[in-house]
Amino acid sequence: MEYVIETQGLSKSFGSLQAVREVSLRVEPGETYGLLGPNGSGKTTLMRMLVGLVRPTRGTGGVLGEEIPPDRVLSRIGYMTQAGALYQELTVGENVAFFGALSGVTSKERIQEVIALVGLEDRAKSTVGTLSGGLKQRASLACALVHNPQLLILDEPTVGVDPQLRSIFWDHFRKLNQQGVTILVSSHVMDEAARCTRLGLMREGSLLAEGSPGELKSQAGTGDLEGAFLKIAGGSHA
Ligand SMILES: Nc1ncnc2c1ncn2[C@@H]1O[C@H](COP(=O)(O)OP(=O)(O)O)[C@@H](O)[C@H]1O
Ligand SMILES: [Mg+2]
Repeated sequence: MEYVIETQGLSKSFGSLQAVREVSLRVEPGETYGLLGPNGSGKTTLMRMLVGLVRPTRGTGGVLGEEIPPDRVLSRIGYMTQAGALYQELTVGENVAFFGALSGVTSKERIQEVIALVGLEDRAKSTVGTLSGGLKQRASLACALVHNPQLLILDEPTVGVDPQLRSIFWDHFRKLNQQGVTILVSSHVMDEAARCTRLGLMREGSLLAEGSPGELKSQAGTGDLEGAFLKIAGGSHA
């Protein structure tokens, strides 16, 4: 497979609002591709089209060799959404077991392993609704990882997560990446962007520029990514 994700002119309108405009994106195996852009720039909508939750208005796309909606390869994708998609009245362990079962993973060892991976061993029996925001994010990540996906789509995975845990998450993403997992991650945090192998800058639904963090900085002639983003996006951001 040449590209894990490939889109051509992918667009989505909600009424007269163009949430995603003509996005042509290619993500190669083994990349950590960061979608960077202010709130409302279309990152979530783009990701939702890639996993088949939103139907494109125009354009085409393929994920893991399957045209979107990628129904037949969903079990090879881990999708972590922004708003907690977990069952609040179930425990951490029950949530992870449920999401695992959706992809045919029923091994108790794997479920325990992935709970340990996100450091929630001692909260496995806690009801998700009783957890703090950061702990919920960890539980969400466990659910996205339980079936050993080949492609991880992470929608602002560290929102509401303290800096220390954020760093733990990113160390973990890097480890998965080194094991061959391809990652598409959205963020509006610049220090996270620096940890991606390649970045796509989005604004008002359009993909404005792409490149490695180093390439974007030299393209903009700035010393830091924040400056590069402001220059390329042409002014206001966030
Ligand atoms: N289901 C929807 N109905 C109408 N408008 C939507 C819907 N989903 C997203 N939008 C709008 O599309 C634009 C892009 O949103 P979104 O993809 O969530 O951006 P981001 O994730 O970058 O913050 C925003 O203006 C948002 O209000
Ligand atoms: Mg979003």
